[in-house]
Amino acid sequence: MPHPPLRLGVNVDHVATLRNARSGPNPDPVRAALLAIEAGADGITAHLREDRRHIRDDDMARLKAEISKPLNFEMAATPEMLAIALATRPHAVCLVPERREELTTEGGLDVVGQHNALAPFIAKLNDAAIRVSLFIAAEPRQIEMAAKLRAPVIEIHTGAWCDAVVDGHTAKAEAEWQRIVAGAALARSAGLEVHAGHGLDYVTAEKIASLAEIVELNIGYYMMGEALFVGLGETVRAMRAAMDRGRQKAGEPVVAATPSDHA
Ligand code: PXP
Repeated sequence: MPHPPLRLGVNVDHVATLRNARSGPNPDPVRAALLAIEAGADGITAHLREDRRHIRDDDMARLKAEISKPLNFEMAATPEMLAIALATRPHAVCLVPERREELTTEGGLDVVGQHNALAPFIAKLNDAAIRVSLFIAAEPRQIEMAAKLRAPVIEIHTGAWCDAVVDGHTAKAEAEWQRIVAGAALARSAGLEVHAGHGLDYVTAEKIASLAEIVELNIGYYMMGEALFVGLGETVRAMRAAMDRGRQKAGEPVVAATPSDHA
C-alpha cells in the first residue's frame, strides 16, 4: 500500500517574533504564510500564546481571512483561547501546554493528568467541527488517553529526539526515535491521525518522513532561520524535497497532498 501523502505545515510564529522586536508591522507573518503556501506548504500553523510574545490576535484573524490552505491554531486550553478559536474557526486547533517562563513549548501536554480539564475543551471544539489535535510525547499512556478523550489527532512532540540528534547524543537519539516509531504505530492503531513537530530540520524531517503513520509535520524555527540565508520560498521547497526523499526511501511513491487529505 502506498504511504499517505505527508503534509508540510509551516509555523510562522518566528516571523512575528522578529516583527515584535520593533514596534512596526514588518516582517509580516501573513506575508510569510502566503509565500510559504505559494512555495508548496500544505497548511500554516501559528501559536497564540497567552503573553502574545509573537503571534497576536489580529495576526490570527488575518491568517484565517487571507490564506487559502488550512490554518492550524496552536493554543493552551484556557477559556480565553477557546473563545478566540471558536470565533476564528480555524481548520484545526492543536492544544499545547504553556508556561510563561518557557522559551518554547518544552514538553508535551499531560493528557493523563489533565483529562478532566481537557475533556470539555475537546468536546466544544469537536462540536464546532474544528479538528482537535493534542501535542503529546510519544508515551503509550498519553496516546491511549488522547484516543479516549475523542481527539481525532495527536501531534507527537519530536523536540527531545531532535535535540539529541543535533547534540550528537547517539544513544539518546536512538531511544527517542524508537519511542516515536512505537508511539506513531500505537496511535494509528488506536484510530488517531498522527502528526509530528518541534525542532525538526532537514535531516530529522527526512528521517521521520519514512513513518507511514505520520501524515503531517509542523515546522517553524529551523525553516525561518534558513530563510534568512536562502529565502523562505527556497527553504519550503528544500524542506518539501527532504520530506519526499524520506517517503521515497521507505520505498513509496511520493504523492502530493490534495485538499481532501485534510480530514
Ligand atoms: N508543533 C507544535 C505543537 C509547536 O508548539 C511548535 C512550536 O511552536 C512546532 C510544532 C514547531 O516547532 P519548531 O518551531 O521547533 O519547528
